[in-house]
Amino acid sequence: MKLPNNLRKKRGFLELKYGKYWVAWNPYHSKLAAYVLGKGNHWPFAKESTVLYLGAAEGNTVSFLSKICIEGRIVGVDISPTAMAELIVLAEKEKNIIPFLGDAHFPRTYQPHANIPDILYQDIAQRDQLDVFIRNYLFFKPKCGFLMIKSRSMPGKDEDIFDTVENKLKTEFNNVEIIDIRKWAKGHKAYYVQ
Ligand SMILES: C[S@@+](CC[C@H](N)C(=O)[O-])C[C@H]1O[C@@H](n2cnc3c(N)ncnc32)[C@H](O)[C@@H]1O
Repeated sequence: MKLPNNLRKKRGFLELKYGKYWVAWNPYHSKLAAYVLGKGNHWPFAKESTVLYLGAAEGNTVSFLSKICIEGRIVGVDISPTAMAELIVLAEKEKNIIPFLGDAHFPRTYQPHANIPDILYQDIAQRDQLDVFIRNYLFFKPKCGFLMIKSRSMPGKDEDIFDTVENKLKTEFNNVEIIDIRKWAKGHKAYYVQ
């Protein structure tokens, strides 16, 4: 992918242009940065994009998306009250972040906030992470989605798990891109689907 004007690679890191400055975006802390450095081909995030982010945690990746989708909205869902406390602090500074304390198994509970998102992003590292993603995708019908799979959260051998995930995604979606990000995020692959 030709990087958009507000992203560049520098010394093994990614950088995001924000205002006059380039801010380092660490691929060891953000699987989305790892996806780009791993030569991912899709970058649907635009100024006006709306993103439903499942597994927002304290908001590391969300904070970058909020700078990119500056006129859009990032709805950050997380089940952990501790993580949510930090996400709320971030949302007080960045007006396009909507934090939601909730469980990604229940899309109906955050539908009033998420409406119809352009992009579904999920990084929850749970045993049923694949089913949760498909359930949310079918429920919200976004234009595209990113799924970060942690093989170690599922039973079985890494390669068998990734094979199962890939076969299932290929039956559900027309377009499935697979990016190995294990260099930056232990036991993870990133999937873009449409
Ligand atoms: C690996 S962390 C996410 C890191 C984050 N995506 C980032 O890049 O900054 C996984 C998060 O998923 C959350 N999580 C786990 N199960 C969840 C569920 N069922 N619903 C919502 N969030 C969940 C955890 O609380 C945790 O904060």
